[in-house]
Amino acid sequence: MFKTVVLALDGSEHAEHALETVAGLVSDGSVDTIHLLNVVPPRASEMVLSAESYIEIEHAYVATLGYETDLGKELLARASKTLTAAGANWIHEHVISGDPARKVVELADEVGADLIVLGRRGLGGLTGALLGSVTRRVQHETSVAVLTVA
Ligand SMILES: Nc1ncnc2c1ncn2[C@@H]1O[C@H](COP(=O)(O)OP(=O)(O)O)[C@@H](O)[C@H]1O
Ligand SMILES: [Mg+2]
Repeated sequence: MFKTVVLALDGSEHAEHALETVAGLVSDGSVDTIHLLNVVPPRASEMVLSAESYIEIEHAYVATLGYETDLGKELLARASKTLTAAGANWIHEHVISGDPARKVVELADEVGADLIVLGRRGLGGLTGALLGSVTRRVQHETSVAVLTVA
């Protein structure tokens, strides 16, 4: 039985499998509270390259962040429905901007998680990589149990 689970979702197929796994744990009655997390990473460097002024950079950044935050909210709302259908009672949704691995580790600490669930890989799509960089870093940087789902 896990009391508090952090499930990190980036919209990738592996993360979708992680969601299915958690839904299975919920139907078994093995999970109590779930914190869904989508982290919007900074893309400042791309914007600096395409923008012509500092103001433009700032505007582009705010617009992109807003757009990606909305996508994150939609993603988590859908996941929330799946988990509710599986019988989950306590679901929290977090869309946070920042460094994905760090935010996963921080949220797990904050909520006192006893399990972190991640996909084995994500949107990076580097074929050949056995383990995504976020998953690898989380495993190194947390003392909470980590379940990676292929
Ligand atoms: N921005 C993010 N927000 C939430 N979870 C994420 C994010 N990026 C990655 N993850 C989690 O980490 C898993 C592995 O992704 P990642 O390590 O980024 O692999 P890749 O290097 O293939 O993109 C994902 O399936 C997801 O569970
Ligand atoms: Mg990634």
